[in-house]
Amino acid sequence: MALLEIKLFGCPTLRRKTEPVPEVSAEVKTLTDNMYETMYEAEGIGLAAPQVGVLQQVLVMDVTPQDPSSTPMVLINPEILEADGQVSGEEGCLSIPGVAGDVKRAEHVCIRALDRDGQQVELPLSGIAARVAQHEIDHLDGILFVDRLGA
Ligand code: NI
Repeated sequence: MALLEIKLFGCPTLRRKTEPVPEVSAEVKTLTDNMYETMYEAEGIGLAAPQVGVLQQVLVMDVTPQDPSSTPMVLINPEILEADGQVSGEEGCLSIPGVAGDVKRAEHVCIRALDRDGQQVELPLSGIAARVAQHEIDHLDGILFVDRLGA
């Protein structure tokens, strides 16, 4: 595995839209492994591919430090199928160190994605997992949490 460089606010890559992954190839699996390692090294709970300079619909998250009932997740080509409720909560971002703020997100979401094995999964998420998933999916559209502050 290898640590990847985390792109910081101001890097144009963070504002680009990403492309769907056509096939969960060995290269994509290696990317997810490296993204996990990079996220853990930075003590983050989520990381999206544009943050490491890759314009593909790939994200990793692991909110177990805040929700032990959760599990680490790789989401490839994620889609939000359902969203309901609204809750405000504090967010930060590995690409915007030292900045935090309250963002309104859906309280519950159901997400369809491919996992690391290329299998389609449908995940009902709540709490911090729902928040992080929405934050990371925003990254795949070039949206940063600071865009949503005060909304
Ligand atoms: Ni972020």
